[in-house]
Amino acid sequence: MAARLPIRILGTGTYLPETVRDNQYFVDYLDTSNEWILTRTGIRERRCAAKDEFTSTLAAKAGQQALDDAGLTIDDIDVIICGTATGDHGFPATATFVQAELGGRDIPSFDVGAACAGFLHAMMTGVGFLASGIYQRALVIGAEVLTRFAKNEDRSTVVLFGDGAGAAIIGKTDNPRQGILYADLGCDGSKANLITLPAGGSRLPASEMTVAERLHTLHMRGREVYKFAVNKMQELIDHALAETGLTPADLKLVIPHQSNLRIIESAREKMGLPREKVVVNIDRYGNTSAASVPMGLDEARRNGILQEGDLVLMVAIGAGLCWATMIMRL
Ligand code: ACO
Repeated sequence: MAARLPIRILGTGTYLPETVRDNQYFVDYLDTSNEWILTRTGIRERRCAAKDEFTSTLAAKAGQQALDDAGLTIDDIDVIICGTATGDHGFPATATFVQAELGGRDIPSFDVGAACAGFLHAMMTGVGFLASGIYQRALVIGAEVLTRFAKNEDRSTVVLFGDGAGAAIIGKTDNPRQGILYADLGCDGSKANLITLPAGGSRLPASEMTVAERLHTLHMRGREVYKFAVNKMQELIDHALAETGLTPADLKLVIPHQSNLRIIESAREKMGLPREKVVVNIDRYGNTSAASVPMGLDEARRNGILQEGDLVLMVAIGAGLCWATMIMRL
């Protein structure tokens, strides 16, 4: 990316379901332990959506909070883009339900599918609209109800995931210091089969067999993804810093996707950053896929850790395998 893009964050929001599921929940029916989950992943607990909550419910609540934070209403928004891998339906897009829930009318509302990198892909899509002048303000959301797609009997995946949503409203800025200094999206489609929800699409439509074989649940070759992610995250951060001429010390905060505390810690140690400069929410929320980065961003803004003028680096890797990096001066 050659030039600064004059886009800023106008507001952020989060919604987390009330129900907390701790590690003991899994210890009670699976061959696992609190110690294994905590030391191998960093997860202590995660949130679970209530029966009457869907991905769009979570997304709309986070979106409303972002609107309130920005002092705007849905009528001020030109486009809604939702990053999710666990939408309400195969179609229509989850963003269409979000629009209805927020009382919006006629504005384009669609989803972006890039799994854990979904929020940053949605952000870049919104940034493209804004930078080209097509739209003035976008509501960008990362929302997931992953617990509903987990294979309950698979200890290597079911313990990992949680439900949640984070949202941001982006708009143009006239402040020459503010904006997006770096953005990079990518994907290695040859690794698409490492994390899949195999059935329910055109490749493998729903049938008695797909239900019996639990093919409507998430399947992941975790060790292979881990090896890829731990190296890729470092490569993405190094590249972003090299391209912008920044050092880790210039960053106020790094917000990495939360798939495994060991991946986050590895990146933090290589950057030589203290713990407080790298966001961790996996301990409380598990892997919330597209929601982890916007929830981290919102929490840091609300706590006053991130303020106007601060530099933040966001980075995510997920199914696809897809990745995304963004450096923004707030
Ligand atoms: N409790 C106890 N033992 C377990 C559990 C569990 N919950 N899960 C797995 N094990 C066992 C395995 O069976 C294995 O036993 P074995 O050696 O006897 O075969 C052993 O622990 C080690 O298993 P690994 O899979 O090698 O464990 P690893 O240390 O790699 O941790 C994990 C697994 C947490 C999944 C890790 O690989 C990981 O974090 N991967 C990356 C996940 C990721 O980045 N996903 C991307 C985003 S997901 C998305 O896009 C929706």
